[in-house]
Amino acid sequence: MSIENYKIAPSILAADFNILGRQIEELEKNGIELLHIDVMDGLFVPSISFGMPLIASIRQESRLFFDVHLMIEKPERYVEDFVISGADSITVHYEACDDLLKIINRVHSLGVECGIAINPETPVESVYPYLSEVDMILTMSVRPGFGGQRFKEEVLEKVEALADIRKEKGLDFQIEIDGGVNKRNLRRIAEKGVDILVAGTAVFDGKISKNLKEMRR
Ligand code: DX5
Ligand code: ZN
Repeated sequence: MSIENYKIAPSILAADFNILGRQIEELEKNGIELLHIDVMDGLFVPSISFGMPLIASIRQESRLFFDVHLMIEKPERYVEDFVISGADSITVHYEACDDLLKIINRVHSLGVECGIAINPETPVESVYPYLSEVDMILTMSVRPGFGGQRFKEEVLEKVEALADIRKEKGLDFQIEIDGGVNKRNLRRIAEKGVDILVAGTAVFDGKISKNLKEMRR
């Protein structure tokens, strides 16, 4: 996929929850198509964020594509609830699942897309057996659990490997990167073959329209 085709997926983890609805509207007005929604359970990662009620609430007002990133243990317990709440895509962590194929099939049977996420220290080869089954591979470029961390450069090797294998095998999964993306490193990351760049702090810290404009420049 060429660099012009990449998308920015703002992560609402960095939003101001007092005015979340208004901020989502602003994203829509600024041409954003995907919203990245980080769900944390206090077990798979140390922090707790939000869950189904919040997603169901914003679903009422927004037509954006909801890219739900589950940083939770045994995500199979909640897949259906997240779909009912309004998820368009569900990404589970390789490290958190016992039977990945089963969960991928379950997600697809509910009519939504399925992604697999890998932590920075998880080898990219771990997901190779699933590449023809999933819609997306999410490569974490920070330790999962918190926004505002520094981008881990070494993760770009995994992106390159995924882009190569995708081309070689004629596959069509998307490559997403999550953590530490900002206006300075965005283009360089996209050039490696990333389709979706998640950005929290870089989008919500300050003025959203100005931030997005600078990121797209
Ligand atoms: C981290 C989350 C990320 C995070 C990105 O666990 O998965 O989506 O919110 O935040 P920034 O862009 O601030 O690194
Ligand atoms: Zn995320």
